[in-house]
Amino acid sequence: MSPLGISLAIFLLAFWEVVGKTFSYESIRLDPADSHDFPAIRFDNKAAGSPRTTTTARCRAWPGSNDWPSDSEWQQLNTSLGGALLKPLPPASACYQGDQYNESTCRWLVNQAGRTHFWLDDPLSTLTQWPQGSTCTLVSHPQGSCTRGGFPEYVVNATTVKQVQAAVNFARNKNLRLVIKNTGHDFGGRSMGAGSLSIWVHNLKSFEFIPHYRVGQYSGMAVHVGAGVESWEHHNHMAAHNIAVVAPGGSTVGAVGGWISVAGHGLLTSKYGLGADQVLSNNIVTADGHFLTVDPNNHKDLWWALRGGGPSTFGVITSVVLKAYPAINITSTSLSFTVNPFLPLNRTLTPNSLTNITSFWNGVSLAYHYCAHIIAAGGLCYSYIYPLGNSSFTFTSSQTIPNITAPALTALLSPLYTQLNTLHTIPVTLPTLAAIRAVPYAGNSRRTGAAEPANTRYRSRLFPSYVWGHAMLWAEVFASVRAAVEDGGYTFHGIAYSPTAEMAGWPGRDSAVHEAWRATALHAILNEVQPEGITAEEARGRDARVQAYVDRWQELMPDAGAYMNEGDPAESNWQDRFYGSHYQRLLGIKREWDPWGVFWARTTVGSEEWAVITLDGYPAGQNGRLCRVQHK
Ligand SMILES: Cc1cc2nc3c(=O)[nH]c(=O)nc-3n(C[C@H](O)[C@H](O)[C@H](O)COP(=O)(O)OP(=O)(O)OC[C@H]3O[C@@H](n4cnc5c(N)ncnc54)[C@H](O)[C@@H]3O)c2cc1C
Ligand SMILES: *[C@@H]1O[C@H](CO)[C@@H](O)[C@H](O)[C@H]1NC(C)=O
Ligand SMILES: *[C@@H]1O[C@H](CO)[C@@H](O)[C@H](O)[C@H]1NC(C)=O
Ligand SMILES: *[C@@H]1O[C@H](CO)[C@@H](O)[C@H](O)[C@H]1NC(C)=O
Ligand SMILES: *[C@@H]1O[C@H](CO)[C@@H](O)[C@H](O)[C@H]1NC(C)=O
Ligand SMILES: *[C@@H]1O[C@H](CO)[C@@H](O)[C@H](O)[C@H]1NC(C)=O
Ligand SMILES: *[C@@H]1O[C@H](CO)[C@@H](O)[C@H](O)[C@H]1NC(C)=O
Ligand SMILES: *[C@@H]1O[C@H](CO)[C@@H](O)[C@H](O)[C@H]1NC(C)=O
Ligand SMILES: *[C@@H]1O[C@H](CO)[C@@H](O)[C@H](O)[C@H]1NC(C)=O
Repeated sequence: MSPLGISLAIFLLAFWEVVGKTFSYESIRLDPADSHDFPAIRFDNKAAGSPRTTTTARCRAWPGSNDWPSDSEWQQLNTSLGGALLKPLPPASACYQGDQYNESTCRWLVNQAGRTHFWLDDPLSTLTQWPQGSTCTLVSHPQGSCTRGGFPEYVVNATTVKQVQAAVNFARNKNLRLVIKNTGHDFGGRSMGAGSLSIWVHNLKSFEFIPHYRVGQYSGMAVHVGAGVESWEHHNHMAAHNIAVVAPGGSTVGAVGGWISVAGHGLLTSKYGLGADQVLSNNIVTADGHFLTVDPNNHKDLWWALRGGGPSTFGVITSVVLKAYPAINITSTSLSFTVNPFLPLNRTLTPNSLTNITSFWNGVSLAYHYCAHIIAAGGLCYSYIYPLGNSSFTFTSSQTIPNITAPALTALLSPLYTQLNTLHTIPVTLPTLAAIRAVPYAGNSRRTGAAEPANTRYRSRLFPSYVWGHAMLWAEVFASVRAAVEDGGYTFHGIAYSPTAEMAGWPGRDSAVHEAWRATALHAILNEVQPEGITAEEARGRDARVQAYVDRWQELMPDAGAYMNEGDPAESNWQDRFYGSHYQRLLGIKREWDPWGVFWARTTVGSEEWAVITLDGYPAGQNGRLCRVQHK
């Protein structure tokens, strides 16, 4: 290269902004000509305002009704998709008498499948089952028959943008209910829906390391990540490239789907911010069927909304570009103790256990209060308080800090142990230096993914950090946590971190992420397992019972928001709780980009205009037709 060429190259390197990163699967796009023979997949234009742009039907099309596409139309769609259209059966159908019955398959599903990646690779299954309507539950000897319930009717096993575009266009043009599924981790039934067409992004697994990425004020390493990459896969990529990327703590959670669309917390949240704070560019298919790159310079309203404004609302994300950091090690310790007032106190026999219930709760309060120091060091506390029955309780926790030596970590924790021992006579021992080991954040034993369906119900509040500075308020807040566990019988799950605006940096700090995240020190959760087979009436009663404890938190901390991903789909006033002051602006952007209401999931922006009409009235269930809410 000539000297001029070299200086030109240096000049370009310094000022070049990387835009329009696309994977090869994103270069395969739907051409308007593809719809000549099949108008059902033609594009639309949000600005056109022509009669075909909106449907006035009261409900989405329903299988068996006149408005449902014919078999030959589904076949044509399948042809347009290159054969990627699936009509899967619920896996548990193998346990029910009928054509699908298979004793050995059923036994394997019941006993083994949860230790494998089976449920995560299934096009229908989700990890929270109850929104499906419990019409095909996994049991060895079920009564009755298996029906599809809230599971989608058809699934597009997407491996190209063209397929995503064809599916979005078909759903919009045929008035179908559309859902998007990635890993199926959502606790609120947002990756399923009765009578729907589902776009399954799970197999979009591409990954690319970008050593130099520059946009606006950001200049540094980045990664380009496909929509189907799971956290454990992400960690393996990080290890391969000797980098760190903010990723979900849960190893099988999608690194790019619902997690990043709402907020997304993980082990590096108090060091580098939320998942949504890492985004530098989004590739999406919008409701009109078009494929767009949305970044700080393109489509600024969507750019703001996509980071924190919720999943399945503005489009189907096909990939994102995220900030990447140098490789980092993390160091963890654990602290646990149990109270059982009926056991004779014998510390030698039972380390970490005590009989004095007052001491127990004082100790737990202290441990949570102390998390402020862990956060200040860039780390997080991850904890549970479990009611064991008969006035016994266990507190379990871990403290994880990135980039800290073992001596520094024990020095940081030592005052906590001293106070637990001396103030509250809690017999816990500071871990020895030999017991503490720094391990790489990348890789970090997340080499496999396993998960199985459950029925855990989460209720969330983001406790503001000012509570830590007011002794009286702290005492009241903690008393309300204790009441929820002791009287309510709920499991308390607390994750302490602090993704401040400063940490979010540029461009993270200006996004649709709920402002409560910027001021929180603890994501507080009440957990319960929803029993199967309860009536809608019983379910509503249970919701009201737990809501009283959450309302108490809200009363003490009126500005506490909630994390939708680990919150409750039946939360009332969810617009405020899940989106805070951003709701109206988000609603405007939703109406602008999706005037058809193609994308719908419970408690997403604009979702109040539609409701699922379930046969049994089950709150927040997905087993029913999606219809417009009638305004009086
Ligand atoms: C075992 C477990 C561990 C968890 N750990 C964590 C954790 O460490 N940190 C944390 O913050 N949360 C955690 N969560 C909660 C998690 O953030 C949510 O369940 C989240 O919704 C998962 O997103 P997903 O894309 O993997 O799942 P899905 O259920 O497939 O999707 C969730 C939502 O996102 C939408 N969506 C998915 N992909 C796309 C896409 N490409 N484009 C547009 N919309 C899309 C779906 O339609 C749905 O509305 C955990 C949940 C579980 C069950
Ligand atoms: C779609 O086409 C493929 C390939 O021809 C076929 O295997 C599949 O069963 C079809 N899907 C449906 C729902 O008919
Ligand atoms: C049951 O499923 C197994 C595994 O897929 C298969 O090998 C077997 O033939 C099936 N049995 C029957 C009776 O269909
Ligand atoms: C989905 O597509 C991928 C890639 O073509 C394929 O490997 C996988 O088996 C398909 N899954 C199902 C359930 O058909
Ligand atoms: C992480 O710790 C290991 C030892 O466990 C060490 O070899 C490695 O250099 C450390 N890496 C970083 C980035 O500090
Ligand atoms: C609860 O503890 C009391 C006193 O030790 C004991 O008599 C009773 O059996 C215990 N109940 C249960 C359910 O464990
Ligand atoms: C406590 O445990 C020690 C050691 O096992 C034992 O010697 C002692 O008798 C126990 N005391 C009581 C009160 O059970
Ligand atoms: C339990 O601990 C509290 C507070 O430390 C103390 O006031 C109380 O006397 C103790 N109760 C018993 C039975 O030891
Ligand atoms: C880790 O800590 C060292 C020493 O405090 C510091 O120099 C280094 O920049 C830190 N690394 C990261 C990635 O934060």
